[in-house]
Amino acid sequence: MTAEMEAVRLHETGGPQSLRVDRIPMPAAGEGEVLVRLRAAALNHRDLFITQGLYPNIRMPVTVGADGAGEIEAVGAGSFEGAVGDEVVIDPMLGWGDDPRVWDTATANILGMPRDGTFARYVAVPSANVYRKPEQLSMEEAAAIPLAGLTAYRAIFTRGALARGETVLITGVGGGVATFILLFAKHAGARAIVTSSSDEKLERAKALGADLAINYKTTPEWAKIVRSAGPVDLVVDSSGGETLRKALDVVRPGGRIAIYGGTNGDATIKLFPLFWKHVTISGTSMGSPQDFAAMLERFSKGLRPVLDRVFSLQDAAAAMQHLASADQFGKVVLRID
Ligand SMILES: NC(=O)c1ccc[n+]([C@@H]2O[C@H](COP(=O)([O-])OP(=O)(O)OC[C@H]3O[C@@H](n4cnc5c(N)ncnc54)[C@H](OP(=O)(O)O)[C@@H]3O)[C@@H](O)[C@H]2O)c1
Repeated sequence: MTAEMEAVRLHETGGPQSLRVDRIPMPAAGEGEVLVRLRAAALNHRDLFITQGLYPNIRMPVTVGADGAGEIEAVGAGSFEGAVGDEVVIDPMLGWGDDPRVWDTATANILGMPRDGTFARYVAVPSANVYRKPEQLSMEEAAAIPLAGLTAYRAIFTRGALARGETVLITGVGGGVATFILLFAKHAGARAIVTSSSDEKLERAKALGADLAINYKTTPEWAKIVRSAGPVDLVVDSSGGETLRKALDVVRPGGRIAIYGGTNGDATIKLFPLFWKHVTISGTSMGSPQDFAAMLERFSKGLRPVLDRVFSLQDAAAAMQHLASADQFGKVVLRID
C-alpha cells in the first residue's frame, strides 16, 4: 500500500478558505531529486495570489508553498553530495537555466505551482535545489528565508549593486521582501531610509537598524524629507505607481532603482530626471542559484530572519488570512510536526 501524508491543497480558487488539508500519496524522489521531510514552511504573497486566482496559469489540484526546510529523507538516482538525514533549506527557484544574468523563460518556475510545494510533510525537489541549513538557525527561521531572501538579495546586491557606506531607500518596509532588504543593507554597512504606512512597522524597522523612518501615509511629502537627508544611491521598490515616480525624484545623479514588484499598479515616470540624472532602472525577480548560495552565506554569518507568527500546518488557511491582513512584520511560518 502507498504511504500517505498530509498536504495543504488547492482544488478551486476562492481565497485562503479554499485550501483543504488532504491525505495524498507521499511523493517519491525521481532521478536527480531528493525527498525532503519538511519541518517548517513559510508563506509568501504568491501563495495567497494563487488561492485567489490572481496568478497566471494556475493548475489544480496543487499543494501550495514555495518555502521549506527539513531533512533529507531519500535520494533518487543520480549524483548528490549530501546524505539522508542532512538538514536542508530548499531553493524554490526551479529551472533558472545557465545564465546567471537572467532566468530561462522556457524552464523557470517556482515551487508550489505547478509543481507540488512545501505545505506538506514531504516534498520531492531537484537535488540541486537543496542547500545545507545554516546551523545556528532553527527550522522555522530557515524556512522563512528562501523566496523573500532570494528576491531581496538579488534586488539589493546583484541588480542594485549596493556597496558599504551607500544609502538605500526601501519603500514599504513592512513587506516580506523589504524586511530582508533592510537586514541585508545594514549587514552590508549601508545607510537605510525606510517608508511604511504603519508607525508600528517603522518602529520595528528602526529596531533592526533603519537610520531614517518615514510614514508615507501621514507624510505625503515624504520624498522631500528623503531628499533633504542626503544623496540616495539606490531605491528598492515593489509598490510601483506614484511611489516609483517619486523614487526618480529622490535618487541621486548616477543612482540606481531596482524594482521587484508593482503592488500599486503601473507607473508613469518623468523621462527628464531619468536621462538627465543618468539613472539606471533594473527589473529583478527571484534569483539565480549563485544568488541563493550567496544569500544563504549571509545567514551563516550571524544574520537571522524576522519571524512574525508561527502556525501549525493544519492552520495554513488561518495563516494565509493573517498574511492577507497585511498586519504582519516579518515572515508567517508553518510548523510541520
Ligand atoms: N519579483 C519577485 O520575484 C517577487 C518576489 C516576491 C514578491 N514580489 C512582489 O513584491 C511585492 C511585495 O511583496 P511582499 O510579499 O514582499 O510584500 P507584502 O508583504 O505583500 O507587502 C507589500 C508591501 O507594499 C508596501 N506598500 C503598499 N503600498 C505602498 C506605497 N504606496 N508606498 C510604499 N510601499 C507600499 C506595504 O508596505 P507597508 O506595510 O510598510 O506600508 C506592504 O508591506 C508584491 O507585489 C509581490 O508580488 C515579487
